[in-house]
Amino acid sequence: MVVEVHTHPDHTGRGSGLAGGLACRQHGGRVPRGFLDFSAPSNPLGVPEFLREAIEEAVELGLYEDYPDYDYRDLREAVASFYGVEPEGVVPLNGAAEALNILLLCLKSRELVVAEPTFGEHRCLAGVTGISYVPVPYREAGDYFEFPLEGLVDAARAGDAPVVLLSNPNNPTGACAELSKLGELLSALQNSLVVVDEAFVELSTTCRSALELADDYENLAILRSFTKSFGVRGLRVGFLYTSGRRLAQTLDACRQPWNVNSVASYAIAKVLRDRGRDAREYLRRSAEVVEVGRAALTEGLTELGVVVYRSHAPFVLARHTRVSARESLRRLWSRGIAVRDASSFPYLTEYHVRISVRLREDNARLLRAYRELGLG
Ligand SMILES: Cc1ncc(COP(=O)(O)O)c(C=O)c1O
Repeated sequence: MVVEVHTHPDHTGRGSGLAGGLACRQHGGRVPRGFLDFSAPSNPLGVPEFLREAIEEAVELGLYEDYPDYDYRDLREAVASFYGVEPEGVVPLNGAAEALNILLLCLKSRELVVAEPTFGEHRCLAGVTGISYVPVPYREAGDYFEFPLEGLVDAARAGDAPVVLLSNPNNPTGACAELSKLGELLSALQNSLVVVDEAFVELSTTCRSALELADDYENLAILRSFTKSFGVRGLRVGFLYTSGRRLAQTLDACRQPWNVNSVASYAIAKVLRDRGRDAREYLRRSAEVVEVGRAALTEGLTELGVVVYRSHAPFVLARHTRVSARESLRRLWSRGIAVRDASSFPYLTEYHVRISVRLREDNARLLRAYRELGLG
């Protein structure tokens, strides 16, 4: 296949290229059609047919002509019954990424304590809104990043009831937050809201979800992303769950009334309600495909002398030993392949790269390109 060669500012390590405040925004994706995109992790199996059908049905019904139900009753009920939680604790989101905008607006917290390195949007948002941002580093222990329990507790106690944020599994390290440590964190910080971003947890065979703790801690909010789970990144839909009823009500009142579009809310509600078994089976199979693909990437990259951290997510964090991330991206880009330069994450270096797990042939093509281009 012939691919056009484009240059892309995000993938040459120069940020978004937009003026001033937005320069902090760096994400994967935005690669030309026809590229093999390893830069923006998602479900490697892509969109399930049953969801595609539900989206098409919503479009055929012309649902986009109407406002969605601003209470999202169907969506809430469907989420609650699929995940075994209470509908009153579900706050619909325009993707997991929307949560922090709502949280910061609603809770008026002046401080954010965050386990880093992690998803950069939080840092960016804190910078733009002038909220104090306290990063707490994961401890790098060989090929793993350990959950910084003491660091988070100390930082949060030293602050003024900050919002504490972490991801499970974490982007970009792929590390899980062990439930026993999360429980300790929640017990130690009863005056703080702890937000656990689980955008990728349904694509993991090994990370346990903080939903298991939800009934015990009202200071816990969990984020989920259908965007990632069902590979519909452009649809923009997810939810927040908390057993804190007042918190759920406050957050719900803060969100934009129609924050999830009518096609997305109809399709996801329909799939969870009417195709629940298929959806569960799809997620189970997806997590298995991720596990197998991740093992192949890890083995192939390790053979090339790359340090690959132990991951539980649909991506791996890798540290090159010879060729910088920026130069590697440039060489791969010329072959129509995109990976994520991870040097923009705090505590990582110019040699760190994040690579999404894709299907077997794609993963093999990436490894071939690594070999031929002398990367590692
Ligand atoms: C940890 C984390 N949370 C949330 C998101 C965004 O999720 P969504 O597309 O559901 O907004 C990302 C995207 O990469 C992420 O890495």
